[in-house]
This record gives sequence, C-alpha cells and structure tokens, in this order.
Amino acid sequence: MKVSIIGGSGYAGGELLRLLLSHPDVDVNQATSESHLGEYVYQQHPNLRKQTKMKFTSRQMLEPCDVLFLALPHGEAQKHIAEYAQIAPKIVDLSADFRLHDQALYKKYYESDHNAPDWVEKFVYGLPELHREEMKTASYISGVGCNATASILSLYVGVKYGLIDPNQPIFVEIKVGSSEGGQSVNAGSHHPERSSVVRTFAPYGHRHTAEVMQELGLTNVHLTMTSVDLVRGALATSHSFVKPGVTEKDIWKAYRDWAENEPFIRLVKDKRGIYRVPEPKILAGTNFADVGFELDPETGHLITIAAIDNLMKGASGTAVQAMNIISGLEETTGLSFCGLHPI
Ligand SMILES: NC(=O)c1ccc[n+]([C@@H]2O[C@H](COP(=O)([O-])OP(=O)(O)OC[C@H]3O[C@@H](n4cnc5c(N)ncnc54)[C@H](OP(=O)(O)O)[C@@H]3O)[C@@H](O)[C@H]2O)c1
Repeated sequence: MKVSIIGGSGYAGGELLRLLLSHPDVDVNQATSESHLGEYVYQQHPNLRKQTKMKFTSRQMLEPCDVLFLALPHGEAQKHIAEYAQIAPKIVDLSADFRLHDQALYKKYYESDHNAPDWVEKFVYGLPELHREEMKTASYISGVGCNATASILSLYVGVKYGLIDPNQPIFVEIKVGSSEGGQSVNAGSHHPERSSVVRTFAPYGHRHTAEVMQELGLTNVHLTMTSVDLVRGALATSHSFVKPGVTEKDIWKAYRDWAENEPFIRLVKDKRGIYRVPEPKILAGTNFADVGFELDPETGHLITIAAIDNLMKGASGTAVQAMNIISGLEETTGLSFCGLHPI
C-alpha cells in the first residue's frame, strides 16, 4: 500500500513515519511539511537516520495514495477535508476535528462552529478497542485524544461490564508528559519553567472530556489534567464506586475477559516487584496500554488505572492500528514490539 502523511514534521507525524517506514505492507510515498520543505525527513526526526532518504514535500504536491494520514493541528483538517479525500480513498485523521458527533458538544468544547459538519458522520472514532467492527468497513477514521484514550481505557471495563454505579460521579486524574503539546513552543514549555513540574493546567473542562463522555455514554465524568516531568506518557487514575454487591472477583473476571481478546491491552495487577500497577515509563515507544484496578471492599471505591505512551497508543500507534483494520491487514502488523527496560 502507498501511504502519505500531511504534517510529517510534527511529533505525531514523526511517530507515524517511524512506524510506517518499517511496516511490512506499506510504502511511505510522501510526507509534507511547509516549514521544512525540501529538507531530509531525518533532519527533523533524527531517530530516522538511515531509515529513509525521503525529503519533505509540500501539501500542494501530494500524489494519489491508498491511505492518507493527517497529523495537523486542531482545525486544519476540517478546512480541506474535501480536497484530501480526492487524494486517497481512506483517511486517518489524528486531530480532534472529526471526533465529536454532537455539534453542540463540539461548539461547547472547541468554542467555534465546525467548518465541515457534513463530514463528521463519515468518520468512525478510531479506538479499535471500542469500534473495531465499524472500522472494518470504514473509509474515514478520526484520531483519538491521548488523555481521552487513557481515560476511556481506565473506565471501559467498569462501564461495559456494568460494574460502576452510574449514579455516582466519576473522577479521572490524568498525568501527562510534555510531548502531548506538540513541537510548538510557548512560555510554559520553556525548559526552566517546564522541567520538574507537577502542574495542574486543567482542573476541569479539558476538551477531551467531551470524547470520554461520548465514547462511554456518561455525563457524570470529570477530568483533571496535570503536566508532569515526562516527555512521553499519560497515566489516567479514575475514581468511581461499584454497584452494591460487586466484588473484586467480579472485577478480575471482567478485566481478564476483556484483556484476553485485546492485542494491545495488558492487565497489570501484581502483588510483588516494582511494577505492580500500570506505569507509562515502560510503555515509551510502544502501542500497548497497561490497565489495572484496586477495590476498597469497605467503601466500594474503585480505582482504575490506564497507562499509555501519548504519541503511540494515544496517537500514531492507534492510527496505524486503525490503518491495518480499515485495510484488511492483521491488526497488530508493525506494532507488536514491546518497550524498553530499563529506560
Ligand atoms: N502530541 C500528542 O501526544 C498527540 C496525541 C494525540 C493526538 N494528537 C493530535 O495530532 C495532531 C498533531 O499533533 P503533534 O503533536 O504532532 O503537533 P505538532 O508537533 O505541532 O505538529 C503539527 C504538524 O502540522 C503541520 N502544520 C500544518 N499546518 C499548521 C499550522 N497552521 N500550524 C502549525 N503546524 C501546522 C506542522 O508542519 P509544517 O507547519 O511544517 O507543515 C507539523 O508537521 C494534533 O491534531 C494533535 O491534537 C497529538
């Protein structure tokens, strides 16, 4: 298959290139960058030295391909989606542009009207763990928010298996690394200001809340976002209450049932060792999501945890997984490698 990437110079674009250049069923045809036009791809992504001699091309120079990835900042894909659809029959967009189906919710969280509302319904929310069957026949896949992915994966079992009491509010604490902000800099990302932080930047109202509500069918979920001193990684710790009578055994059973059939979900719940609960550190660079839980049997307080690499399972890894599915390939192709230890 011939694939191309618009926005190839960004962090998510770089991860797409890393994955797709070694994917056995894919030829990367073009990667665009307007600000690095004509430069070698490895000059922007030095980890790709000796992997490719490709140079960045312009968005105006795109040739037809089988799958087109859009790795642009929010708001850009929706401006030109009809043109991009002329280039490829299948599109995987990593941005938030086509994630929300409810236009009122979109306006509330993104504070503007959508430029291409008619296109939204053509897109399937691209988290295979939730939409695998729909994706198999889809042509257009929307990306997933990294914080939303961690939050959804932390809560999915509790919701799907009916373990969580829906009448109680659900709180999700998310800790996230600096690469989630992309490559553009601001005062807060300047090293002396960003280094060593534990900085709560969105106590409530983060945009990804809308995706979590949509995908889990919840209205009582509250996200709090905190930047921590990581480059990659997102950790969602969710607090809910189980329905009366739900035991730890029930929760184990549900997690085992789910994780057993999911190629990238690993249940982490050990009594010994250092890595007893999910932790993003050992997921850097991989498409795995580690999930786990603890139940306080006295109070019914359920703590569910999900750890991911925000640029992989939270963005480009899931996007390649989605490409595999919509193209009829084995879902895990080019993605089944684990992370590094120690790192
Ligand atoms: N970073 C994450 O952890 C993460 C996770 C999930 C989803 N995403 C989504 O993935 C998309 C890309 O994120 P990223 O982190 O890779 O961002 P990034 O590092 O800032 O890269 C953005 C890319 O878009 C291009 N671009 C095109 N029009 C632009 C414009 N008007 N302003 C700025 N750049 C423009 C840039 O290259 P040129 O300007 O050279 O063309 C660059 O290649 C975003 O929609 C983001 O929400 C990111």
